[in-house]
Amino acid sequence: MGKNIVSKIIESNLVFGEASVGSEISIRVHQTLTQDSTGTMTYLQLEAMGVENIQTELSVAYVDHNTLQTGFENADDHEFIKTAAAKYGIIFSKPGNGICHQLHLERFAKPGQVLIGSDSHTPTCGGLGMLSIGAGGLDVAVAMAKGYYYLKVPKVMNIELIGSLQPWVSAKDVILYILKRLSVKGGVGFILEYSGEGIQHLSVTDRATIANMGAELGATSSIFPSDEVTKNFLAKQGRGQDYVPLYADQDAFYDEKIQVNLSEISPMCALPHSPDHVKAIDEVDEIKIDQVAIGSCTNSSYTDLMKVAKILEGKKVHPEVSLVIAPGSSSILKMLSDNGALGILIDAGARILEAACGPCIGMGQAPKSKAVSLRTFNRNFEGRCGTKDASVYLVSPETAACSAIAGVLKDPGSCGDHPVVEIPERYHISKHYFIYPPKERKDLKVFMGPNIKPFPVNYPLKSVLAGKVLLKIGDNVTTDDIVPSHAGLLPYRSNIPELSKYCFGTIAKDFHNIAKENNGGFIIGGENYGQGSSREHAALVPLYLGIKAILAKSFARIHKANLINAGILPLTFVHKDDYLLLDLLDDLRLLIHPDGLDSQKNILLYNDTKDITIPLQFTGSERDAAILKAGGYLNYAKQSNHD
Ligand code: F3S
Repeated sequence: MGKNIVSKIIESNLVFGEASVGSEISIRVHQTLTQDSTGTMTYLQLEAMGVENIQTELSVAYVDHNTLQTGFENADDHEFIKTAAAKYGIIFSKPGNGICHQLHLERFAKPGQVLIGSDSHTPTCGGLGMLSIGAGGLDVAVAMAKGYYYLKVPKVMNIELIGSLQPWVSAKDVILYILKRLSVKGGVGFILEYSGEGIQHLSVTDRATIANMGAELGATSSIFPSDEVTKNFLAKQGRGQDYVPLYADQDAFYDEKIQVNLSEISPMCALPHSPDHVKAIDEVDEIKIDQVAIGSCTNSSYTDLMKVAKILEGKKVHPEVSLVIAPGSSSILKMLSDNGALGILIDAGARILEAACGPCIGMGQAPKSKAVSLRTFNRNFEGRCGTKDASVYLVSPETAACSAIAGVLKDPGSCGDHPVVEIPERYHISKHYFIYPPKERKDLKVFMGPNIKPFPVNYPLKSVLAGKVLLKIGDNVTTDDIVPSHAGLLPYRSNIPELSKYCFGTIAKDFHNIAKENNGGFIIGGENYGQGSSREHAALVPLYLGIKAILAKSFARIHKANLINAGILPLTFVHKDDYLLLDLLDDLRLLIHPDGLDSQKNILLYNDTKDITIPLQFTGSERDAAILKAGGYLNYAKQSNHD
């Protein structure tokens, strides 16, 4: 059988392993991207690895999340990222330049190459035929240092698009429709590969909108072929030389296939509080709205915002509605300014925000209490907008603009003539927001303001680990419980000591002080320890507080990987009821075999307070065991013969 696009890219970039579903491989990484919220930690990790030169063709450090400078903390982080980027040979994108995924699509993404980014919406560049995967910050640091990335080969699901979109139906409606069909778990374990005659009617930015929200389906990535549409987009961005054609073979093999008829899709919306809680707008009762927010890495392209301008031309935003618009890039903002569209938006009563993530990451524009907010973004989890009792609906830019005029959630079909936007002959390129690294970098210093604290590094695994039980908790503890993420703590993403004061703060009293007084120790967890967001701070903060091992009934997959990367042992009870034999402040000793961890053999835990022995298990690959033996991924990666 023939090959699909994903197999073609993986096989031509395979460094280690066999490219069969489920096996562990490493692949060459051509490009990386970071954003500031995860990037500070990534560059601290790169620094801790003692790297002199990065091994990727191109890496970019974007500042788009914490752009507000209400105190010195975010400004310090920006300066740290800028100087670290210069030192290591990384392109720096200044705050105000735009959102990492929109900018990367415009300026750097290349069909057929591999991109690893420390942001879950990195797959956006799959709209241009690039294999683009979101990963933890440390994985991105290692990809820069070594030039490759480890992953388990995912399955590939083919989504065949047939037919063409009706007027007033857009790419956002397509991905909402797919979310309705597959749910937020429907893409787990898959890369989604799009094909079919329907894709020729979708622009690169339409495809990027669809690839972007593959993250909401739980997919590892999403990818489109590289075709004439891709070629035209690259030429208009002044990057015609980056085009390569890329198609699946006629008889390509796929692990699963579904078909979507574009002609049958109508305008959609995702109801609160999940992106897969989707209904056709004409099935939803009329809802009065308070706020409309247009932008984010999902829907902030030139075409998206031009459609909004055409809909708003000569109209006015409803007096009860606040309409905010954040363009995806400085280039888009300049084009809107040059062609008069910006004036139309302002005339209609829109609030124009800087080109950044803005309201999507809760940097301003929290709606009023109990508000209804329509957003063109990708997530509508409870409280994410900054107002706990607000209701967020996810919609297309067309639906958002028509509703902003009407003051109610509106099917855009009732909004007059469908706006047709001509793609310009040439996109504007804002060059001066990018700072390229100098050739001579040996003597460059990295700026570390008082908000930047060193990254905690572990030691090689000892044969005996001793300490007290510092915390005993129940089932389904989330990474949010371990390290809270409310807006007040966002500026401390590079300050692990400050963050550590809040560790387990919402569910346990005084954990930080108990851990400090006892010089670290053990945490006892229930089922599914560490579920939720992938943030690696939930492993790094406990590492900083001296946590040696987590003994739990079971672990959430990504958090377990982050613990291993940090060098904290994730061990499970052989007999789950043994959880009952451990209590707060019990004295424990763990005996580790001198050769390290072996998933075939039990590890013995001595509870010296109760004079009992408890068998524990390590479940992980040989490579995981070697990482733990070295004291975490950083120490392991520094060893010249390891990757
Ligand atoms: Fe930024 Fe929101 Fe995308 S935070 S990267 S615009 S999901």
